[in-house]
Amino acid sequence: MSKITTLDEFILHNENLHEDSSGKLSALLRDIGVAAKIVNREVNKAGLVNILGIAGSENSTGDMVQKLDIFANEKMIALLSNSGECAAIVSEENEKIIHLPKVKEKTPGYLVAMDPLDGSSNIDVNVSVGTIFGIYKVQDINEPIDEKSFLQKGVEVVAAGYVLYGTSTMLVYTTGNGVNGFTLDPSIGEFCLSHENIRIPDRGNYYSVNQGYYLKFDVEMRRYIDYCSDLNLRLRYIGSMVSDVHRMLFQGGIFLYPNTRKYPQGKLRLLYECVPMSFVVEQAGGHAINTRLERIMEVTPRSIHQRSTIVIGSPAMVNEMKDFIRKYTLHEI
Ligand code: AHG
Ligand code: MN
Ligand code: MN
Repeated sequence: MSKITTLDEFILHNENLHEDSSGKLSALLRDIGVAAKIVNREVNKAGLVNILGIAGSENSTGDMVQKLDIFANEKMIALLSNSGECAAIVSEENEKIIHLPKVKEKTPGYLVAMDPLDGSSNIDVNVSVGTIFGIYKVQDINEPIDEKSFLQKGVEVVAAGYVLYGTSTMLVYTTGNGVNGFTLDPSIGEFCLSHENIRIPDRGNYYSVNQGYYLKFDVEMRRYIDYCSDLNLRLRYIGSMVSDVHRMLFQGGIFLYPNTRKYPQGKLRLLYECVPMSFVVEQAGGHAINTRLERIMEVTPRSIHQRSTIVIGSPAMVNEMKDFIRKYTLHEI
């Protein structure tokens, strides 16, 4: 019988690979693992209990909030408060940053940016959703934490990952030493190492974009989509970035969310959607840029809920997309 490695064992075992081997980051990652299991339980029974439906409020970026978003947000915050290693959180569901209470005499050294439930429009129809997280260091522990503390470039992220609540539940994360995937075994309630050192294929047969907005995209994007279609690439779009990027990570392909007329800066959020997914994909050998051809990880955020365009996935395909932007764009890049 092959040996099972649980997420907790893996985190502990790899602790000394991080620059910070004090165990603090490990504690935080384990908290996220526990939160993921609790959110997973609720996602699974969402169809059975009265937790479905729109809660009737709007989140900080103007989208309708559903009840499971709120549940996931509360659970993540509660679990991240446990270890005392997280000073504050930026969440899609909270306009302002959330300061966490001190635990004993600990000085928390980390900040977490998260999208507690990604793809929430999928909940009511029993389609995959996810959770995204990025962990940053507190740059100066002697300074009070405020919004500016979070305005760090993606290259400063020390760990990032996502949970996919799909046909099975997976947690995929990186601390900058490659990407590993863990599948939840419901019979023992543990995330078990199932995909070691994930590498994204150089190119793939899929592209993922909301092609319904075709006429609202810039000309270079339309040309690129035509090119994908000419190549007979298969279009897949779930409407949850986690699920769509997950497919590209494993099967190869490209995911795009460019600017539209409604979202001139792009729709997805830099700190808690684009950067964490970019860190994972880059660590697996992929590329992630915005439509101004900047590497997502190099962009300096100006606000915590900043939006960004994104082109992410197999390296050869992202490079090809760059050529379309250079060739067809009508405005200055
Ligand atoms: P969220 O549910 O956290 O608001 O995120 C939804 C995001 C993202 O996951 C997805 O790729 C995109 O919105 C879908 O947007 P469109 O419906 O505009 O395609
Ligand atoms: Mn999202
Ligand atoms: Mn969300």
